[in-house]
Amino acid sequence: MEINEKILELFKLQKDDYLSGEEISSSLGISRQALWKHIEKLREIGYVIEAVPHSGYKLLETPERLVVCEIKWNLKTNFLGKEIHSYESVTSTNDIAYELAEKGAKEGSVVIANEQTKGKGRLGRRWESPPEGGIYLSCILRPDISPNEVPKIALVAAISAVKAIRKFSGLEALIKWPNDILLSDRKAGGILTELKAEMDRVNFVILGIGININTSKKAVPEGATSIKEESKSKSDFSRVEFTKILLQALEEEYVKFKEKGFASFREELKSYSSALGRDIMISASHKKNVRGKAVDIDETGGIVVELEDGSLKTFLSGDVTLIR
Ligand code: BTN
Repeated sequence: MEINEKILELFKLQKDDYLSGEEISSSLGISRQALWKHIEKLREIGYVIEAVPHSGYKLLETPERLVVCEIKWNLKTNFLGKEIHSYESVTSTNDIAYELAEKGAKEGSVVIANEQTKGKGRLGRRWESPPEGGIYLSCILRPDISPNEVPKIALVAAISAVKAIRKFSGLEALIKWPNDILLSDRKAGGILTELKAEMDRVNFVILGIGININTSKKAVPEGATSIKEESKSKSDFSRVEFTKILLQALEEEYVKFKEKGFASFREELKSYSSALGRDIMISASHKKNVRGKAVDIDETGGIVVELEDGSLKTFLSGDVTLIR
């Protein structure tokens, strides 16, 4: 743990009381001067710390910013988010995570940013990522699976995101197959996996997740929404709190996936699916759009569609439009 994080831990354990400079510096084994420098650093990040002669320091306000020590505080995960890289602005957290993974970053390392200037969506689309709006994060995973199983990780991540949104906001988030996150039939989040692999083995997977938290209607694309818009709340939601809940949910589901395989998620995926029982249009790459009724999700995560002539066809990838 970094010194800054240790100082914050001491403040938080002390609750509303003063902590003397002497106490802090001796428990961390640093000089009073070094402590002063760390306090100044924390103030620069946005912490309001009062310093009163003869009483000591007191933490008055914590910033609602995606700083590493805030995300890590009380984060109940074993490996996901043990290493977090947080940035004010990046092109794409997926790109940064990819570079870190190439340099050997451990499984569970996370990259998060307040803003993305070139946020990437599925199928070459753009992901609007305005500052202070959403959560833009990428996890480095090193599962021992073959490349064709990677889409299942995105499905498992979608289940985790839905659970996290429900727990955090009480809103009834659903999944539009394969991994769009919907609130009231409008898109509020998405998942983009990228990978480096040999013929039959994955080197690493970059699991990128974007969720619109406080993003205003004006800042999201037509037809999209955010948690704040849907909950009709006037005040902003805490992105730090949401990040913790999301990382905890992701770790839990990812561990289950590695231990039990994808089949154990099928029923859950069906219960969160917005498309089942509805008329849909599906466009699978290079093929023309197909219309039909979504009737099932199979044991590999593919969507089963009843076509207009009554035959059943399973799609393993594609883009779904809900018709009614
Ligand atoms: C989609 O098209 O639905 C997928 C959107 C994925 C967006 C996230 S935000 C964090 C990560 N970095 C990116 O550039 N994209 C993903």
